[in-house]
Amino acid sequence: MAREKKLWAGRINASMAHSVEAFTSSIAVDRRLYRCDITGSIAHVKMLARQRIILLSEAQKIVRGLKAIEREIERGNFPFSSADEDIHMNIERRLTKKIGAVAGKLHTARSRNDQVALDMRLYLREELKVILDAIRRLKKELARAARRNLKVIMPGYTHLQRAQPVLFSHHLLAYVDMLDRDGKRVEGCAERVNVLPLGSGALAGTTFPIDRAYVAKMLGFPRLSTNSIDAVSDRDFVLEFLSVSAILFVHLSRFAEEMILWCSEEFGFIELPDRYCTGSSMMPQKKNPDVIELIRARTGRVYGNLQALLTVMKGLPLAYNRDLQEDKIPLFDTVDTVKASLDMMREVVRGLKVKKERMLAAAQEGFMNATDLADYLVRRGMTFRSAYTLVGRIVRYCLGSHRRIEQLSLKELRRFNPRIEEDVYAFLALDAVIERRRALGGTSSDNVRRRLREMGV
Ligand code: ARG
Repeated sequence: MAREKKLWAGRINASMAHSVEAFTSSIAVDRRLYRCDITGSIAHVKMLARQRIILLSEAQKIVRGLKAIEREIERGNFPFSSADEDIHMNIERRLTKKIGAVAGKLHTARSRNDQVALDMRLYLREELKVILDAIRRLKKELARAARRNLKVIMPGYTHLQRAQPVLFSHHLLAYVDMLDRDGKRVEGCAERVNVLPLGSGALAGTTFPIDRAYVAKMLGFPRLSTNSIDAVSDRDFVLEFLSVSAILFVHLSRFAEEMILWCSEEFGFIELPDRYCTGSSMMPQKKNPDVIELIRARTGRVYGNLQALLTVMKGLPLAYNRDLQEDKIPLFDTVDTVKASLDMMREVVRGLKVKKERMLAAAQEGFMNATDLADYLVRRGMTFRSAYTLVGRIVRYCLGSHRRIEQLSLKELRRFNPRIEEDVYAFLALDAVIERRRALGGTSSDNVRRRLREMGV
């Protein structure tokens, strides 16, 4: 088959090596931008007609052609070709086939450099809405799980050593607060994505009397870029999304890790629904938490994508460089990974079975009310530091006889300090320990209920 001439055959006097075509083509990746590309082109061409840079009839022809192409792509019968490098040139070539030479007017006052920057922003703007919604839904699901298990007591840890009892619901709501901040970061990122770069040309602007504000209005951009060189060179908005995603995955990964621990025999705090687990090919008894392991693992991809683009960007001279084409793989992969992981996490949370007796039993071991005994003594006049030392000795005494603090007799306790009285037993009960922590942000059920009310759950 005869090869079609390249766009730039006027200047470049040899047909491109097949190997180079394959090496430089991005169509396999950037075809997912087709809708954004067509939307952007339609707005551009309407503006060109309004400014009398092209005729209205020409613009109408081009718009009709672009819409037909969009339908072709949607139906899966668009003849994608890697000889046409990227989605922008694939569409322009096809447009020429369909409507003839007038297609050549589409690219008036435009470069692929501002075109691709626009497409990326249009694309990410839509995806950020989806991601924001997925974060919101995961938060809701966590809140619902907290509501179902409002009074379930679990050991709280520091250094992965039993520390103080907390409500399981309070622990789940810790992730809601993290996701809340993630959502705000996504919103902040969206604000900086939402800037129109089109009209910057290749780097210096354009000689045509274009109306950028009109294009911005058609495409729903509240702001225009103010420097053409920056507008075509800038991928901060992608880097920012990748950073926000990396932080989001810190949270997803920590939660995944906790659930993996909790569903082990050693903890036994939760059970995952069977349909979110897999078996082993050899060990018949196994039930493995692969889904959340993969969320934990994909954190590596998300961090890697950020690192990849940071490295691509560093040291690039202004303005556009072909290096920038490499922003797409990390961006698209991160978008896909973030959406899939948020949705999967939500499903897992929905199906979570909580083994509250196991959690409570674990909370009863490990002297988790020791701080409260010290607080008790402080209320009776000791300094915190001397009460703390005294309770340390009581704990050591308990270890010697394999008992909990509240299993010591009053006589034994008073040998350590006569300020201790009968009411100490009620004071040390785990639910009392929890309910006393009612300063804002503490684990008391009042606080948990207030937070759930704020969330409308
Ligand atoms: N495929 C290119 C990219 O994704 C489009 C812009 C090409 N511009 C250029 N001057 N080669 O970055």
